[in-house]
Amino acid sequence: MPVLVNGRAGQLDPLDRGLQYGDGLFETMAVRDGRARFVDWHLARLADGACRLALRLPDQEQMRAQIAAAWPAGRGVVKLIWTRGAEGRGYRPPVNVDPTCIAAGFEWPAWPAAAWSEGVRLRYCQMRLGRNPLLAGIKHLNRLEQVLARAEWDDEGIAEGLMLDDRGQVISGTQSNLFAVIAGQIVTPALDQCGVAGIMRRAFCAWSALHATAVVERSLQPDELETAAEIFMTNALIGAWPVRELAGRQVPAGPLAVRFNSWLAAQG
Ligand SMILES: Cc1ncc(COP(=O)(O)O)c(C=O)c1O
Repeated sequence: MPVLVNGRAGQLDPLDRGLQYGDGLFETMAVRDGRARFVDWHLARLADGACRLALRLPDQEQMRAQIAAAWPAGRGVVKLIWTRGAEGRGYRPPVNVDPTCIAAGFEWPAWPAAAWSEGVRLRYCQMRLGRNPLLAGIKHLNRLEQVLARAEWDDEGIAEGLMLDDRGQVISGTQSNLFAVIAGQIVTPALDQCGVAGIMRRAFCAWSALHATAVVERSLQPDELETAAEIFMTNALIGAWPVRELAGRQVPAGPLAVRFNSWLAAQG
């Protein structure tokens, strides 16, 4: 697993603010032969997060080079982490510190093909997502809610956990976004209060507007999912996983996730 710190195979400063406070951002990308899928959208989300946190904006060309260096050939995953940099102690953001860029390459995960062909099983998590509109949508490094939610189950047969916010509205999976077909509409939870605005969520919305219907972003109650004609989860690596079971209840198989995955596969 090659890990580059500021472009070199080096060590991270233990006083890095990414480590001390989660003061930074990250992106996880599917890569083939050094080419990251939807790289422009990943870098745009990173830039949006950098604006929101007032982090110095990444140099895009430098980051593209680091992505390619972290996984130059074959199929893999690159995780790019961008932090405010290393600096003493205290929350106050320092002004004259160089940001840290970490690029790590990983083997492509060995998910069973049945996750796409037959669908996955989902559970509800007890852990709730706190609302904070200023942090909603971006992929910042503070992920304790997801870590604790993912610690709730160790049944290998459950692929994902569904997370609600503190008001009890459905937001997302622990590491994926949710779509559901409800009363003929394709619905995905609004992410203006919490959650990560996924790159694959964006890709699905763009695809759907062209090939199906426009996706409706709105608040979603858990009981609405009981009437869904199709549910699927998306992220940058998996594309779309159809859901076949939610909290022990069977979910009908629908055509959308399958059609979207075929389109995605044809993109290379
Ligand atoms: C909490 C959370 N929501 C959604 C997503 C999906 O985002 P993307 O499509 O960019 O992978 C992820 C991905 O890791 C995530 O961690």
